[in-house]
Amino acid sequence: MLRIGVLVSGGGTNLQAIIDKIGSGEIADTEIAFVISNNKNAYALTRAKKAGIPAACISPKDYETRAQFEEALLHAVDSYQADLIVLAGYLVIIPQLMIRKYRNRIINIHPSLIPSFCGTGCYGLKVHEKALARGVKVSGATVHFVDEGTDTGPIILQKAVEVLEGDTPEVLQRRVMEQAEWVILPKAIDLIAKGNVRVEDGIAHVTER
Ligand code: GRF
Repeated sequence: MLRIGVLVSGGGTNLQAIIDKIGSGEIADTEIAFVISNNKNAYALTRAKKAGIPAACISPKDYETRAQFEEALLHAVDSYQADLIVLAGYLVIIPQLMIRKYRNRIINIHPSLIPSFCGTGCYGLKVHEKALARGVKVSGATVHFVDEGTDTGPIILQKAVEVLEGDTPEVLQRRVMEQAEWVILPKAIDLIAKGNVRVEDGIAHVTER
C-alpha cells in the first residue's frame, strides 16, 4: 500500500481527482495519509475532511521565523510516515532539507508543458496568461519529481491540450485542469504505486502505462 501525503493551497480539485480515482480503483493500492495546507481557508481542507482524511493547516503566518515554519512542516510530514508527497497546487517553497530527505519522493503538478512557462513566479493563472501572450497552439500539464530547483525535477508524465481561438486565461486554465491535470496526476501516483517509475541520471523512466 502506497501511503501518500497531499500538500494543497487552494480549491483542491487535483486532490479531489486523487480521492475519486482511489475510490474508483483507477489508482491502485494507495491511501491518502494526510492533507496539509498553508491556507486555512483552502477548500481542499474541506474536501479532505469530507473524505475522512486527516487534514491540517500549517501556515508560515503562524510562525515567527521561516525556519520555525519549515521545521513544523517537516515534522508534521514525517509524523505521518508517507511514502510519497504530492504537491497539488501547493504554493509554498518546499524546504531544501525536505527535498533532500524525500529525494524522488515528492511530485508536483504544473499547468504547462515544462520547460515552457515555468520557473520562479510562474504558477496558477500566470502560466496561462503567458501561454496566450506567446500565442502557443498547444499547452498542457506536467507531473515531475521535485528537486532543489523550481519546476526542474525529472518529468514523469505530460499531457497536451489544445489552445483555442478566443481562449481567456481562465478558460484555458479550466481546460488544462479538466483534460490534463486531473488525468496525469492520478496516473502518475498509480504508476508509482505499481513501481513503474524509476529515475536514472536525472531522467524519469516510466516502464509501463
Ligand atoms: C492548478 O491550476 C494547478 O495546476 C496549480 O494550482 C492549481 C491547483 O488547483 N498547481 P487545485 O487546488 O488542485 O484545484
